[in-house]
Parts: sequence; C-alpha cells; structure tokens
Amino acid sequence: MKTQLIMRATGAPLPRIDGVQKVTGTAKYAYEYPLEGVTYVFPVQSTIARGRVVSIDTSAAQALPGVVTVLSHENAPRLAPLDNGRPLGRSISQYLAVFQSDAVAYRGQVVAAVVAETLEMARQAASLVAVHYEEQPHDVELRADRSDLYKPEKINPDYETDTAQGDVEAALASAPISLDHTYTTPAEHNNPLEPHATLAVWSDDGESVTLYDANQGADWIRDDVAKAFGLPPERVHVIAPNVGGGFGSKLLAHPHVMVAVMAAQVAQRPAKLALTRQQMFALAGYRTPTIQRIRLGAGGDGRLTAIAHDVVEQTAAIYELAEQTAVSSRIMYSAPNRRTTHRLARLDLPANMWMRAPGEAPGMFALESALDELAIACGLDPIELRVRNEPAVDPETGHPFSSRGLVSCLREGAQRFGWVPRDPQPRLRRDGPWLIGSGVAASTYPVYQFPAAALVRVDRAERYRVGIAASDIGTGAWTVLTQIAADALEVPLERVQLEIGDSSLPRASGAGGSSGTTSWGWAIFNAASAVRIRLRDEYGGVVPAEGLEASGASETNPEAQQFSMHAFGAQFAEVRVHVTTGEVRVPRLLGVFAAGRIINPKMARSQLLGAMTMGLSMALHEVSVLDPRFGDYVNHDFAEYHIATNADVGTIDVTWIDEEDLHVNPMGAKGVGEIGIVGTAAAIANAVYHATGIRIRDLPITLDKLLR
Ligand code: MOS
Repeated sequence: MKTQLIMRATGAPLPRIDGVQKVTGTAKYAYEYPLEGVTYVFPVQSTIARGRVVSIDTSAAQALPGVVTVLSHENAPRLAPLDNGRPLGRSISQYLAVFQSDAVAYRGQVVAAVVAETLEMARQAASLVAVHYEEQPHDVELRADRSDLYKPEKINPDYETDTAQGDVEAALASAPISLDHTYTTPAEHNNPLEPHATLAVWSDDGESVTLYDANQGADWIRDDVAKAFGLPPERVHVIAPNVGGGFGSKLLAHPHVMVAVMAAQVAQRPAKLALTRQQMFALAGYRTPTIQRIRLGAGGDGRLTAIAHDVVEQTAAIYELAEQTAVSSRIMYSAPNRRTTHRLARLDLPANMWMRAPGEAPGMFALESALDELAIACGLDPIELRVRNEPAVDPETGHPFSSRGLVSCLREGAQRFGWVPRDPQPRLRRDGPWLIGSGVAASTYPVYQFPAAALVRVDRAERYRVGIAASDIGTGAWTVLTQIAADALEVPLERVQLEIGDSSLPRASGAGGSSGTTSWGWAIFNAASAVRIRLRDEYGGVVPAEGLEASGASETNPEAQQFSMHAFGAQFAEVRVHVTTGEVRVPRLLGVFAAGRIINPKMARSQLLGAMTMGLSMALHEVSVLDPRFGDYVNHDFAEYHIATNADVGTIDVTWIDEEDLHVNPMGAKGVGEIGIVGTAAAIANAVYHATGIRIRDLPITLDKLLR
C-alpha cells in the first residue's frame, strides 16, 4: 500500500492559527519592522517608454534637508548579472539590473531613487530630480496581424509552445458543425492589498544583508539578491512571515528590491521602500492581454472532431514571460484533430508576469465560451455537450488521469444550482427591467509540485518544531501545514510549532502554481514521518535528552510521468442585465470542485471564494487601459482600475466532491489556490448571452458592449 497521510487534524475546519494576530494588527508585515536609523526610499520613474537617460540633475533634491543620497546609473553600485534563466527565455537579469545603464526599456522604469530621513522628504525630493531623456519611438500595441510575432522556445513554466495532432484543417472543413471565433482578454494588474515592500539592512561589516520583504517565496528573493550583490546565499537573509496577498506578483524580486538593498548599502543604514499603488502598475508585473482564435469542429451529435486554439499575446522587451494560455485546451476535451499555438509580440512595456492562474484563467474564458457557442449550434445542453466530449485518457499524452472529477462536478453543480429545466432560448426571462440568464463553464488547474525540504525537531517536552521556508500569502498555509505535520507525527496540533517565511529555514519553492500544500506538505510529511518512526523504532517512543531531528524532502513525483494530474471544477452563474443601462449583476455563483482531499475546508473555501470573486472581477471590471501615445497603462489607481468588491457579489456557493488521489502526493491533495478563478468569467459571459442574446467575446463585459 502507498504511504499516505492518515487524517486526524487534516480535514477539520480549523480556524487560522495566525488569525488573532491578523485581526488584532499584531502580525508584522515587511514595512513594519522597527529598525533604528531607518531611511526611506522613493523611486523616480521614467516618463518615456523607450530611449536613454541623457542627464540627471539631482542638485535641487540634494539641497533639501533630510536627503541622504540620490541613486541613479551615474553613482549606484554595480550589480552582477543575474543569469539564472528563470523562468524562461530572456533572463530576469536585465529587468532587475536597476541603475546599471542609461537605457530605458519601459515607462515607469526606476531611473533614480531618493534616500531620505522621512518618507515625505524622500517623496518631495524625488519630485525635484530632473531627468533628461533621449526618446526613441516605442512599440506597445498588441495585434494579431503584427509581422514580428515570434514563437517562444517554451511557454511558462515548461510546456511545449505548440502541439498538433491529426489534421485540423481537413477536420474543420468536413465538420457538419464548426465555429471560428476570436476571444480577447485585456491586460490586468495584480493588486494585492499589501503593496510590494522591502526593508533592507546590511551588517556592520557590509558582508551580509537582511531583508524584511513582502514575497511569495523567501528563497527565490534571496537567490536573486545574492547573485546580484555577489554574496553567497547564506549571507542574504530574507524574512517574510506575513504577506498580504501576491497572486503571483510577489514570486520573483522586482526592481524595488534591488533599489532598497542598494540604498541600504550606500547609506550604510537600514532602508525601506514600499511601492505606492500607482507604482505597482509599472513595477510589479501584470497579466498579458490575449487574442485567442478558437476553432471547433463537431458532428451533429456534438462530438468534437477538431479543436484549434491559437494564441497571440505579449511580453516585455526587457524580460520574457510566455504565458501558457492554450494549455487547458490540451486536456479538456476529446477530439482526434487538435492544435495549440502561442505567439508573442515583444513590446516596450513593463514586464508582464504571473497573475492568478496565468494561462488557464484567460485561456478557459475562450475555450469555455466557445463550448457554449457550440452547444447552441448543436442544440445541446452545455453540460451534456461537455459530458459527450469527456476524454477517457489525456487526449494529447495518452496518459490516464490520476483522477478526473469534471463530470461529477458538472452533475453535482447542476443539481445544486437548479440547472434543469433550463430553456436555452436567450432573452426569454425577465423581471421588470432585468433580463435574467444562467451559464455554466468548466474549470481546471494542473497539479504542480516543486522540490522542497523540511526539518522536524522534537525536544524532551515533546514539542515539535517544524521548519520550512514556505510562505503564507493569506492562503492559510500556516494552519494547513501545521495540520499536516500533526497528522504525520501522530500528535495533537498543540504540540506542533511551525516556522515558515524565512530563508534560513530548509529550502522551499515559492507559493505559486497552487503547489504549496503539495510541495511543502509532502516535505513535511516525509520529515515528520522520519521523526515519528525513529522515535518509535530507535528510542522506544521516549525522546532522548538531546532531542531528535530529521529532515525530509519532496522530490520529483515519479507518477507525474505516468499520469495526467489536474484538478477540475464546474462554475455556474446567474446574471441579471438591465435592459436600458446594460448593467450586469451577478446574484448567484456556484463553484463545485474536484481538487483531491481537502486538508482544511475553511481555508479551501476561503481560497475558492476569493478566486471566484476575482473571476467575477475579471468578467465584469478589470482592464488595464493602454495609451499608445505614452506607451503605458493609464488607469493606475482604484478609482480607475476597478476590482469587484462585496457590493458586486451576491451569493457565492462553494463546494467540492469527495476525491482521493494518492497518485499526486501522500496527502491526496491537489491545491486550491488558483482553480477558483478558472472558468468564472466564461460562466458569466455564457449567462449574459442566455440573458440577452448578446455574445461578448471581449473581456470585461462592460455596459457599452451590451448597449451596442
Ligand atoms: Mo500563482 S500566479 O502561480 O501565485
């Protein structure tokens, strides 16, 4: 029998063990660590999108009282190249090479920074730094007809860029029913509640540096800082026990981290820098816009004969992230003829990076909207259409699924939502001025697992300390990892003390790709099991005077080569659309998920609820508006970049089906951080069609598009 976690504490809806600290304001965040003699750093951002800095006049800034120094390419410390090649394509080196040359690669790039005694002084002085540029023409517009689109070597994190099977063109030409539509999604900006912030302090001898930093993985930040500043990794200490959200934007260091570390080095005092909300729009990543052509061919019975998903998206001139937009289309439905492609435009824009379910979130908006359109064309219920195209094995690799709960989720959801009976005819239901409709879409997210290590120590008093450089960005990792440790140790929760959010702990992957519980939980399971077994077999259950410890790691899962591993889900939406104003309201969302065993129902529900709200936000509100004249996104604040709030959300019902999948890991858990956002936007768009008869293929679904 496979080793597995016996669930005692796991599976229980334990409240957050960090909850009291959070709600009483005693949980410390990066910017809040009190350090003697701290200085404040305020960046100066470029006002051109491409060119070079000709001169910088800092005299007016320097003349202000309280200004310690002004950094720029003229005087800043030299950094070593960061040739880590991560994630793919052009390395992050150029992006993080702040003040290393006079080149400007995007509007909003940090070209100088003031270090001062107070934040107000730094900000005032920054406004007085006069930068003269030699401006070059910039190229910022994504279009599918650009002649310079290129095929990246791989797509994030490590998928083939294109796939092809059979003869799509022939199958489409001969299909009794076919469709060919283009779906577009806009650039969207990550907006965690806590801004990106770094507080850096060098040791007196200048040989090591400590960072209190808001991030999704202390080790990844440490690695980049160590390389850039030419330090061995153990001389860089990154501390981040509490993080106020990240959604992917805090996985890698951004330029402000380098600026803060340089400022502290030059000033020989602690230096802190928190991005303002406006600065986050240029310096913390964003989701690429996408242009997605979907072609489907089907028989009269709705069985797919061809699926083609061709994606055009963008990346920055300074850094490449090739988002994996079409990968879900590789595993969702059966069809003998299929293709997926990704092409990129390299633009003079800030670096796009990861945003919750990069790839799946925009990609499944397109695929699941197209499925809805196909259901209508075939005269089939959209759930029935999906069930008919359910593959027996992974359609591209031929591997069996480790578990695949899509049909169960659709059926369970249909029942809970009251899907049947549903007249598919659009624009039939009305309540006064409101048109009413319902929609469904599928969700999916892969099971990622990254190497991680943990150390478990037990003392004479039978207190267990569990250490791992994991990260809780608001997900509940503090709680869930404690539960896993307690069960693997077979001790009550109260005996376990978890330590995370610190790069001096055993090495771990970042909180990305919904991989935390899988990767860190597995390492903890192995370390804790080793301690438990040694204690039993070598010490007869009595802890020796000097205590006992064991480490454990999660290695690559060999079963990932034999099985296709994904979580699935079904999303249902009810919408009301006002006939005169076009206003869209979402009184009801339901998500049913199949994500393996749920370690903590309270935390899982909270993750899925948040992600579905973010999906609603993607459907109706979020759009970063590009002004090609300036070469930048212009809606840089919450007045103009709209995010769903409580008032936008009616009832959200979140549930899951029982699923045990011990192929994925000993906990049988698949991860729930991202799947909740996947499919929500399509379910809402499909419901809007059902309400109004208007098919919106371009997110977000704003009033103007419904009033056309
Ligand atoms: Mo997620 S975008 O991998 O933090």
